[in-house]
Amino acid sequence: MGLREDVAQVLIPADKLQARIAELGREINDAYSDNAPPLLVCVLKGAFMFLADLTRRLDVRHEVDFMEISSYGAGTTSSGVVRILLDLEQNIEGRHVLIVEDIIDSGRTLEYITRNLRTRNPASLRVCTLLSKPARRQIDVPVDWVGLEIPDEFVVGYGLDYAEEYRNLPFIGVLKEEVYRE
Ligand code: IMP
Ligand code: MG
Repeated sequence: MGLREDVAQVLIPADKLQARIAELGREINDAYSDNAPPLLVCVLKGAFMFLADLTRRLDVRHEVDFMEISSYGAGTTSSGVVRILLDLEQNIEGRHVLIVEDIIDSGRTLEYITRNLRTRNPASLRVCTLLSKPARRQIDVPVDWVGLEIPDEFVVGYGLDYAEEYRNLPFIGVLKEEVYRE
């Protein structure tokens, strides 16, 4: 049924995603220590699958927490309006925070999150994103780890949605034109 037939092209196959996440895990292990355990902040909903795989690659002690941000409607372009739908459970003051994002497009969402979290006085604030579309950047926000850079195309799968669907696909893909027109 349906979902996979809507995919025009697989941009990043599942094995390539997993190999890159294993590398990111090694780098993040090296960047932190058990004496200063990081708090991974998963930006919902898109980053849930990335967080789940990344956390299993970490040997360093760490905790996870979740934050939900809305920046998109049902379409494929940013509304520019960002707001917090779900806030962190943890107090991050004095903590080493690592933001785990699915994708950086215009940079607006990440700029909002980093500005917001910085006011809570974390000991450090770093960013790891699975994907980045550098061609679309409108606000330059420093990013410590980028999984893969992709061209200016709307992608789905591995947590990323179109109108809340396709998050379950194990790869990153591009949908057929007619899916957006329906
Ligand atoms: P930005 O604020 O424009 O950087 O957009 C960031 C957010 O928009 C991401 O965290 C995603 O949730 C969503 N987004 C951006 N590009 C895509 C895409 O190609 N597919 C699915 N979601 C996307
Ligand atoms: Mg996101």
